[in-house]
Amino acid sequence: MPFEADIHKAAARLRAGGVVAFPTETVYGLGADASNSEAVSRIFSIKGRPPDHPLIVHIGDARLMENWARDVPIIAHRLAESFWPGPLTMILSRGSAPLAVTGGQDSVGLRMPDHPVAMELLRQFGGGIAAPSANRFGRISPTRPEHVLDELGDTVDIILDGGGCRVGLESTIVSLVNNQPMLLRPGAISQSELEAIAGIHFSAHGSASGIRVSGGLESHYAPETRLSLCPAENIGLLISEQKPSRKIAVMHHTTLDDRCRETAAHVHPMPVTASAYGQALYATLRLLDQQDFDLIIVEQPPQDESWSAINDRLRKASHGSGD
Ligand code: TXA
Ligand code: MG
Repeated sequence: MPFEADIHKAAARLRAGGVVAFPTETVYGLGADASNSEAVSRIFSIKGRPPDHPLIVHIGDARLMENWARDVPIIAHRLAESFWPGPLTMILSRGSAPLAVTGGQDSVGLRMPDHPVAMELLRQFGGGIAAPSANRFGRISPTRPEHVLDELGDTVDIILDGGGCRVGLESTIVSLVNNQPMLLRPGAISQSELEAIAGIHFSAHGSASGIRVSGGLESHYAPETRLSLCPAENIGLLISEQKPSRKIAVMHHTTLDDRCRETAAHVHPMPVTASAYGQALYATLRLLDQQDFDLIIVEQPPQDESWSAINDRLRKASHGSGD
């Protein structure tokens, strides 16, 4: 954990228009003063992210929602009371949030992170911090400070070290704009938990909604190595179909039969619970991506709701890999 003095320095950098990477409970964020469009534009150039992709504004107190959004519905207050601080981002009608932050859209994403370093940074800085995940555009989100360094190097002014992220997957995103509650990105807070508190149904995000979600791009969260999702019972067959010269890694969470063990170049056991699996997923993909495998086979996780964020990210990571 960084010392108080490091957080103090980071808050001063933010005030001076700098860019600071900081830990949250989900993934590391790349932050800038949300009210300073020039500082915000540095985030886009560091990440290589197209300027029409909106950023989340992180706030330290739910009462600050009105500073960034307008016509905040009662449901937003109810969700904030139950889930903030925590891995939930709410998309609301834009108030005074600059268009540079919202990617030109008339809506703004707000989140209060559940991490002592992020919260202390927000407290000392005093304003909203616009922050996407601290990775290059389209790549795997960082869940450790070393990942941020690998991804962005010295293009970032300061990296606050908060160790590993507890959740490991990006926040759940819901839109409450236009009275059309929508789940835009699954995360650790599930749709049924949200619906139980909000008392309404969240429809799934359809491309017809006109809402841009960069995590919604099919090729997002992708390792460079080809990745295939495969049910446990078919892994042996999939390996046998590959050329013998191909180096294959297998990520599995149940028992793998001996034939797979013998034929794969590397076998990587994953945790069996959804929360531990989610926490380990990105670090594992990053690790395997750095070794020169030709293919990563991931055992298909269960389909129940607690695994929905994991299945979403794995589906996106495997997209475009040709199978
Ligand atoms: O857990 C998280 O949400 C992390 C940590 C750092 O807070 N942040 C994160 O940011 O994942 P990013 O930019 O990598 O993903 C945020 C997603 C993007 O897909 C973006 O399109 C969507 O939120 N988003 C933000 N503002 C939006 C808006 N006004 N309308 C629709 N989508 C929005
Ligand atoms: Mg991201």
